[in-house]
Order: sequence, then C-alpha cells, then structure tokens
Amino acid sequence: KDLKRKGLKQANNLARDFFRQVLQRHDAAAPARQYLAGRGLTPEVLERFQIGFAPPGWTSLLDHLGKKGYRPQELVEAGLVIKNEAGRYYDRFRSRVMFPIWDTLGQVVGFGGRVLDDSQPKYLNTPETSFFSKGRTLYGLHLARQPIREKGRVIIVEGYMDVITAHRHGVTNTVASLGTALTAEHGKLLLNYSRDIIIAYDSDTAGVAATIRGLDLLLELGCQVRVITMPDGKDPDDFLSKHGPGPWEELIDRAYTLIEYKLQQAAARGHVKTVADKTEVMRQVFPGLAAKSGVQKEEDLKTIARVLNLSWETVAGEFKRFEENLG
Ligand code: UTP
Ligand code: MN
Ligand code: MN
Ligand code: MN
Ligand code: MN
Repeated sequence: KDLKRKGLKQANNLARDFFRQVLQRHDAAAPARQYLAGRGLTPEVLERFQIGFAPPGWTSLLDHLGKKGYRPQELVEAGLVIKNEAGRYYDRFRSRVMFPIWDTLGQVVGFGGRVLDDSQPKYLNTPETSFFSKGRTLYGLHLARQPIREKGRVIIVEGYMDVITAHRHGVTNTVASLGTALTAEHGKLLLNYSRDIIIAYDSDTAGVAATIRGLDLLLELGCQVRVITMPDGKDPDDFLSKHGPGPWEELIDRAYTLIEYKLQQAAARGHVKTVADKTEVMRQVFPGLAAKSGVQKEEDLKTIARVLNLSWETVAGEFKRFEENLG
C-alpha cells in the first residue's frame, strides 16, 4: 500500500513535468505563455514555481502517464483523471495554466488550474486524495518556511498569484490558504514556524468575512495575529504589482490588531455615527494602544480620529482621560 502511495504521488510529479513541457513547447500553449508574461511572470519565476499548461485534449495526460505504466484508475486516485458515468476516463485539467501545490518537502501533491478567460470555475483544484487535503496544505510553505523563521513572521494570503507575486518582490515569508477557508490545521502548521501571523486576504466581501473568522481562529490558537487591508476589492498581487514591495512592507508594519480592524470595518459600514457608538469604539480600542510607543500612539490616535470623524484633540483628550483612569 505504501509503495502504491508513492507511485500515486510520483504521478503528480510526472504530471508537473508534462505540464511544464507543454507550456514551454506546445503551440496550443502560446496564449498561456502570453497570459503569464502579461502578469509579470518571467521564465525564472515560471521555473521556480514550476508553472505549466494542461493542453486542450481530453486524454493528453492520461495517454502520457499511460505510457509510463499508470492505469486510469490510479490516475483517478491521484486526482488527475475523472471517470464519467459511462465509465470513460478523461483529464481533469484541460486548457488551464497549472500551478503545482507541494507538500513541505517540495513534492507535488496537487494542482490548481486557472482558465485564461473569464469562464468558471476560475481555478480548478485537485480534490481531496489520500495525500492532498486543502485544509492541511499551505501553498508555498516549502519555499517560505526558512524565510518565515528568519523574519519571525508569516504573511497569509488567499491565492496562488498572491504568493508568487509576493515572492517575486522578495516578500518570501508568504503562504496561501488557497481560498478563504482557513482551518485550525493551517494555524497549527504555521505555529511550527512562527507565532507572528499577518492575514492579508482580499479586500472583497468574502475576504473580509474570512479575515474576521481567521483572526478569531488564530487568536484562539495563541497566535499573535494582525491583518492588513487594501483598497476596495484588491488583493496582494494587485497591490504589489501596482505599488511594489516598499508600500507593501509599510502596510504590513501598520497591520491592524483585532480591535483596530473591527473599528475600521465598523466605520467602513457606516455603523459608527452616534456619540454612544464613538465612545464605545474608543473604549474598546484604547487598551490596545496603551502599551505602544509614543509615535505609534500618535499615529493610531490620528487613525481613530479620522475613522470616527472626530478632531485629533477630542480623541487625544479622551485617551488622556483613559490613561489617567488606568494609573
Ligand atoms: P480569487 O478569486 O481571489 O482569485 O481566489 P485570485 O487568486 O486573485 O486569482 P487571479 O488573480 O484572478 O488569478 C483566491 C484563491 O481562491 C481559490 C484559489 O486558490 C485562488 O487563488 N479559488 C478561487 C479556487 O480554488 N477556485 C476558484 O474558482 C476561485
Ligand atoms: Mn477574492
Ligand atoms: Mn484574489
Ligand atoms: Mn488576484
Ligand atoms: Mn451603531
């Protein structure tokens, strides 16, 4: 059984090699090459992330791995092939840019395949197999784990392209949860490398909801977690491609704690209007500020004043009263 498992895993490595070759040489991959270049992926990046292309045929990979001795049913178990109701086998991934997903040792355990146009689903992923589980896998971890240890911090993003663009800009302590379903298993995995976690999910509705869930989940595991937000609807790939790593590192340094994030979200929803609302928000946020440096305090008080639409003097005065009550 163990031997078979190894064989199935090896099928994913061989599939990666096949998709790589197709991307580099196949005429049908010309639009994919153009697409990837358009997204800023140089040959070095394609190499580093082992990106490929699944050709349009229904049995290209099936035939290729068949010649290497794999039976169709084994390829179904490896997540690469589908069997239809008529008993016919066909490639799961067709006409898609292929992003290999690795285990922590760098062995390929699955794939995400992206369409080149607007068709759905945008990404097709390997299903749960005997060696791949989305809820236990963090994309890019085998490349990021050393940098995470060195920097003492990990940044968690949603997607393949967010990780690739971050690494491309030198922010190599970045991994992805492959969507917004962050699990306790993900959290425990990260705790092996660092306690200091930054959530940098997309600034769309799904991302915001997942950020709050992720914050609660990671705080409960004992992580030090903060979050960053980007201009509406944007993700780290968009932000980094547009602004570069400097402003990105600044966003990370100014990441919000839970309470700061809730304040910011409440304000964005227009929920903080009455005097009572504003007083309540200040009451919640001030304790997190008390331990900060003078400069950081002043910056945070400015943020609070701006978000609550109050003058700096009023907020600073309220904070002074709060500090006096502490001592
Ligand atoms: P997004 O919809 O934010 O896509 O999904 P993206 O990563 O920004 O993709 P680009 O920039 O348009 O190429 C975030 C992540 O959620 C998972 C993928 O892991 C994706 O990277 N996802 C998304 C899926 O698995 N399937 C989907 O259909 C969409
Ligand atoms: Mn999104
Ligand atoms: Mn995104
Ligand atoms: Mn994106
Ligand atoms: Mn209210």
